[in-house]
Amino acid sequence: MRLQWDQQKYSTGFAHIDQQHSELFEGVNGLILFLKESSPKKDRENIEKILEMLDFLAEYAQQHFQDEEAIFEKYNHPMKDVNKEEHQLFLEKYVHYQEKLQAKIEQQRLTRGVLIQIHIFLQSWLVKHILKVDTHLRDCVEQAEEQVIEYDMAAGKGVFSRFLSFFKRDQDE
Ligand SMILES: [Fe+2]
Ligand SMILES: [Fe+2]
Repeated sequence: MRLQWDQQKYSTGFAHIDQQHSELFEGVNGLILFLKESSPKKDRENIEKILEMLDFLAEYAQQHFQDEEAIFEKYNHPMKDVNKEEHQLFLEKYVHYQEKLQAKIEQQRLTRGVLIQIHIFLQSWLVKHILKVDTHLRDCVEQAEEQVIEYDMAAGKGVFSRFLSFFKRDQDE
């Protein structure tokens, strides 16, 4: 199932954080698109692109974590350490999955199973973490002097769009 941005449900009250979250949703949705448009045989041909996307997602997530931790820190929110710890654990697990995927590729085995596992992990972690931890940032909105505007979906930068269009184009050929 695709992740869909829901302002009421997921908003942290900080526009740039919401925007990053919604971009991450798109990245995670990219994996579904890939699995749907590709096939176990074609996965092999397109694996470079998926690896590139997973690397990019890791970089993007790390940048997002830094930006978000800075706000938790700035307002000295009681959840700041929990947030940091969960980010750290996420990155460790993510590396573990990337290695697992790499091993399958080196052994020339099918990668579909691991890709599905990665998708499930990303999707459930992201939703749970935003709802349980990140949305606590709403507590800081009243004292915040910056960026407290409604997130406008149309203003999304579409940082994952080059991957999404690649996976989509693959299907059209
Ligand atoms: Fe977070
Ligand atoms: Fe976050």
